[in-house]
Amino acid sequence: MNLILLGPPGAGKGTQAKILEQAHGFKQLSTGDMLRAAREAGTEIGLKAKAIMDRGDLVSDDVVLAIVAERLKKPDVAKGVVFDGFPRTPAQAESLDKMLKASGSKLDAVIEMKVNDEALVKRITGRYTCAKCGAGYHDEFAKPNKVGICDKCGGNEFTRRPDDNEKTVRDRLQVYNKQTAPLVEYYRGQGNLHVIDGMADIGQVTAAMEAVLAQLKA
Ligand code: AP5
Ligand code: MG
Ligand code: ZN
Repeated sequence: MNLILLGPPGAGKGTQAKILEQAHGFKQLSTGDMLRAAREAGTEIGLKAKAIMDRGDLVSDDVVLAIVAERLKKPDVAKGVVFDGFPRTPAQAESLDKMLKASGSKLDAVIEMKVNDEALVKRITGRYTCAKCGAGYHDEFAKPNKVGICDKCGGNEFTRRPDDNEKTVRDRLQVYNKQTAPLVEYYRGQGNLHVIDGMADIGQVTAAMEAVLAQLKA
């Protein structure tokens, strides 16, 4: 099954994509994570993307589409993909439709996660990630069981993203509203759109996603 999690920065796309991956064997495909990995590896794409990401703008469609096309060639996507943070423009959405069609696959659902702006800013400014395994946490909403120790891997080093400050989050929100929000109507037109309340707590949001999946299977 191929799903898109569509929502603004901090909506909980990464959090839920990881949960769905664990529960169903889908692969999370986060273009944000892939671009951050390219930055860390110091590749040409990563170096070009750095300044754009730090100010909250979108990396160009051709660069993003190239990394997605490459990722979709790997055999581990056979059970399905949870697209997290992709597509973000109408051109990306149209290209994804073509890529899936070319591989004899299709999109099963687009889940729009609705969260209000002030909650998004709070979520983003409190977010941190385990440096070793990438597990996500929040200062207030998703603390590890033991302070300073990752629940998943026992690691004790954490990182915060350079674009996770209030100024950049507000810029990212504007970019979302202008360039990505039009995809809601695009997918509604395809009959693939499911809207869920992303303001609920993490477990309730997962339950709402599972209800959509059950409806698709029925
Ligand atoms: P990307 O990494 O995709 O960032 P984003 O879309 O801004 O989304 P976030 O990762 O910030 O939020 P999320 O929805 O994953 O929330 P999370 O689950 O972590 O992109 C970064 C940049 O890369 C872009 O700005 C752009 O430059 C570039 N880029 C990426 N893809 C691109 C593309 N396709 N085209 C062009 N450029 C691209 O949750 C946030 C926090 O809230 C966490 O701490 C979590 O614990 C907490 N939380 C989650 N759910 C809940 C809940 N229900 N209640 C309370 N807290 C919660
Ligand atoms: Mg994310
Ligand atoms: Zn960890």
